[in-house]
Amino acid sequence: MSQDLTSDSPAPAKWQEPGKGKRAGFGSFDQPKTDYDKFMDAEGVPVFRGIGIRSVKELPLADWPRLGGRGSYIQLSGSEGKWGFYIAEVPAAGALNVEKHLYEKVVFVVEGRGTTEVWLEEGGKTHTFEWQKGSLFSIPVNAWHRIVNATSKPALICAGTTAPNLINLVGDTDFVFNCSYKFTDRFSESDDFYVPNEEVEPDPIRGLAMQRTNYIPDIINADLPYDNRRSPGYRRVEPQMTGNKFYIKIGEHETGRYAKAHAHTSATVLMCIGGHGYTYTWPERLGVNPWADGNGHLVERVDYEAFGIVSAAPGGARWYHQHFNASKEPFRLIMWNGPNHPSLVTGLPPGAKQIDHTGMDITEGGTSIPYWMEDPFLRDEFERRLAEDGGKSRMEPSLYEKPKD
Ligand SMILES: [Fe+2]
Repeated sequence: MSQDLTSDSPAPAKWQEPGKGKRAGFGSFDQPKTDYDKFMDAEGVPVFRGIGIRSVKELPLADWPRLGGRGSYIQLSGSEGKWGFYIAEVPAAGALNVEKHLYEKVVFVVEGRGTTEVWLEEGGKTHTFEWQKGSLFSIPVNAWHRIVNATSKPALICAGTTAPNLINLVGDTDFVFNCSYKFTDRFSESDDFYVPNEEVEPDPIRGLAMQRTNYIPDIINADLPYDNRRSPGYRRVEPQMTGNKFYIKIGEHETGRYAKAHAHTSATVLMCIGGHGYTYTWPERLGVNPWADGNGHLVERVDYEAFGIVSAAPGGARWYHQHFNASKEPFRLIMWNGPNHPSLVTGLPPGAKQIDHTGMDITEGGTSIPYWMEDPFLRDEFERRLAEDGGKSRMEPSLYEKPKD
């Protein structure tokens, strides 16, 4: 069914040229609903909007006729139109409905244990694999699948999708859900299709740690390769799953250490999956010391525990964001980006020189604020917050010294 693209706001029936010296158009107007917004409305489940929430487990769920089970859409500020997110409860000893769709879907298991069945066509090979709390897996584009709960308690999953991208582009949900094209390059009948692959290779763009795997049994506890970009001792991997354009990565800050702030445009949503903490985010135009400059009231903050989420750059433009572990545990995060790889959505022609700007300090031409340049408020507060939980800072004083060169 093709959806109506027009705005919901009433407009004059007849177009008129502006009077002399005036300009055409309304000048200001409300953001219209996209086709994906209208699709979510029609699904009958709530849509959570905001910059974050302490835990996705706090979201109210409603019966979801199309999907089966109960659920809620999530559309954090800054991710609108860039990718889709939802949580769904798989009924006890039940299953979500069988479905297929032209959009990509990456699933993370918040709670429970079960199996997923995936097949490309009737009578073809069906892959079946087991999942548990912490599992991450991907459904190939337009493959049939069914998510089954193996226990007598409800399971909770969350899913990142490219549904907004597809639905807003083609404007026809029948096409998205009922297309017969088989993406044979995204699906294989090979027995190892859903066998975890732990091999790490450099990603072809930035040379960062990448794992080609369609399934990871437990990303809460999996070993992560050393990265050292976001904080001393930072670990990170980006799983490349089922040929997706959906970009996702898993990172971990060491106990007693926190991330450097960096700035980029919106899309990324962080989900905490280990430890608990808080995130500050502020527009890049406020500079590197918003509190010292009297702009602390313009900084946004979200506190969260495991399975809490926060938008890294909620304003739509470039925002700084900085993440703090207030617990004694390591601080593990999933970064959900949708099909918005930071090095691919630049507007630059092929071959143009780029630097890893979020991984490099401002002093090196990047956007990361080195600790010695950051607002002193942050360090003091971090140490106070950590002490409340019995934790101790492991931020060496030398990190705050301005390098001599
Ligand atoms: Fe970021």
